[in-house]
Amino acid sequence: MIGPIILVVGARPNFMKIAPIHAELARRGVNQLLLHTGQHYDENMSKVFFEDLGMPEPDIYLGIGSGSHAEQTAKVMVEFEKVCFEHEPSMVVVVGDVNSTIACSMVAAKLWIPTAHVEAGLRSFDRKMPEEINRILTDTICDLLLTPSPDGDENLLNEGVAPEKIHRVGNIMIDSLMINLERARNCDIHSRLGIEKGNYGVLTLHRPSNVDDKDAFERIITALEAVGKKLSLVLPLHPRTRKQAEKFGLTVRLKSIPNIILTEPAGYLDFVALMASAKLVLTDSGGLQEETTALGIPCITLRENTERPITVTEGTNIVVGNETSTIISTAFEILENGGKVGQIPDLWDGNTAARISDVLISHIKNSN
Ligand code: UD1
Repeated sequence: MIGPIILVVGARPNFMKIAPIHAELARRGVNQLLLHTGQHYDENMSKVFFEDLGMPEPDIYLGIGSGSHAEQTAKVMVEFEKVCFEHEPSMVVVVGDVNSTIACSMVAAKLWIPTAHVEAGLRSFDRKMPEEINRILTDTICDLLLTPSPDGDENLLNEGVAPEKIHRVGNIMIDSLMINLERARNCDIHSRLGIEKGNYGVLTLHRPSNVDDKDAFERIITALEAVGKKLSLVLPLHPRTRKQAEKFGLTVRLKSIPNIILTEPAGYLDFVALMASAKLVLTDSGGLQEETTALGIPCITLRENTERPITVTEGTNIVVGNETSTIISTAFEILENGGKVGQIPDLWDGNTAARISDVLISHIKNSN
């Protein structure tokens, strides 16, 4: 008997990547198990996404929780290994670049279980980012590397990966975006927050390089104080950011930014609705750079680099770092002139889950 395909989710940015793959495999009658490591566990960082994305409850929940990188990764490995012994999966599918991604792929690779990495090949070339370490290691040990864009293929080939392991399947986040955009547009988040569609900015902030460094955090707040005078800003506060603001004594300043609306972390539909009608998005997230490109909304990325360069070369993204004056001048330029007009990259078309399923199924068939 052939064992199930195990689909791994752990943290917030994983859910919208696995949901369309799970739905497509279910449609094809594939034996699969949805496993949640519990890296993110708050209702608004996890459960609401399952509901919004129409994903069933996980079949297996590891309940790992927070911890240092070593603790979190090691705990996932110990628990995931037990699952692999029990269920003897025919394949493990991991997505993105979080600690759960590398932990589960490492376990599977050592047990000789075929492993697929969705969103392979992305590189920021910045090894100070924990995600970059996770991306490089995951790609090194996975059997199938499913890339979203040509730069992913090139990076892998430059690292000496065998071309037959690389499959360009497109961007899986865009499947979720296309499936849910209409429902998102119909939700009432704008009236709940008292903002007018098309007349506000959305901000997200959680990278350690921005919020674990007091000077960087303050430089960003100073920029927001200027931008907020011209445009209402909605900031759903990530738990890490809330914690760091308290630690650095910056909570009062954050709350006093002119025209800022601080909210709890937003659900998927609410957040897509906010993005889709924003004048601009300011962010240090990876996924938002892609979603804004797909939606044609100007994006200012508060990082020194991006592992998603196609959002800059083809899309609406501008990478500015975290210097106060650059953030202000870029935001003001967008408010004045409307920002970059981008185009949607090839294969960001809503059919990525189908292409991924084709690759997974044919790999399993060929290895039996
Ligand atoms: C993780 C990912 C990051 C991703 C981000 C999206 C890694 C290395 N980082 O970062 O790539 O962009 O998720 O959100 O995997 N916390 C809660 N409730 C939760 C989860 C976390 O309060 O449900 C708090 C905890 O205090 C925890 C802190 O947030 O210590 C950070 O969580 P963690 O999972 O370590 O990293 P993120 O910053 O969320």
